Amino acid sequence: MSADTTHNVVVVDHPLVLHKLAHLRDVDTDTKRFRELVSELAMLLCYEATKDLELEEVTVTTPLEEAKGFTIKGKKIAVVPILRAGLGMVGGITDMLPTARVGFVGIYRDHDSLEPIQYYVKLPQKLEERMVLVLDPMLATGGSAAHALGLLKERGARNLKLLSLVAAPEGLNAVHQRHPDVPVYTASIDRGLNELGYILPGLGDAGDRLFGTR
Ligand code: PRP
Ligand code: URA
Repeated sequence: MSADTTHNVVVVDHPLVLHKLAHLRDVDTDTKRFRELVSELAMLLCYEATKDLELEEVTVTTPLEEAKGFTIKGKKIAVVPILRAGLGMVGGITDMLPTARVGFVGIYRDHDSLEPIQYYVKLPQKLEERMVLVLDPMLATGGSAAHALGLLKERGARNLKLLSLVAAPEGLNAVHQRHPDVPVYTASIDRGLNELGYILPGLGDAGDRLFGTR
């Protein structure tokens, strides 16, 4: 793991993450495996993003004697995927955080302007009391993520983290400019964007690869 504190970015570069990311990028990875990899990578980013969860000491009874242990101290968590591609990350995260509430923000990028267009919002109550993990595998121009973070702040969220599997420097800058308080957890900072706003080297269109739509 390496932290770029000027941009509030944590790059999770664990060998398992790098291995899975290489397979995720591969054009020959099929839809089934692509879905599994997105979910597994989300779980590994979640592991880092929840490192600061508060613990409380508990005593449990093993089959042999009493043992001291730790459990997570009643932290309320919300998970908010940006549709569509963020959906692919939900299962991996909720496997780790089964009591998390799940909300949804539907956004697509306009093909020509690359501006985010919001089409659906359904969020859990009391966002101000929760750690909110925003999920989107791709952070390209940053427009979609910055918009979603702004919306969540308007609805009361104060403790937000963004989990993106692959990030472009342009997207990290855009999110950091508008939301310097929001840390971004990513498996890779890629080289940049092409003229159509795709991340290079990237992995192509994450939504299409997850859902087999192209
Ligand atoms: C993709 C991706 C992000 C967004 C990133 O969604 O899942 O939400 O683009 O680009 P940005 O950082 O430039 O905003 P897309 O618009 O393809 O919608 P989809 O997930 O429904 O296919
Ligand atoms: N959205 C994607 O799915 N892929 C990119 O490279 C950029 C935006």
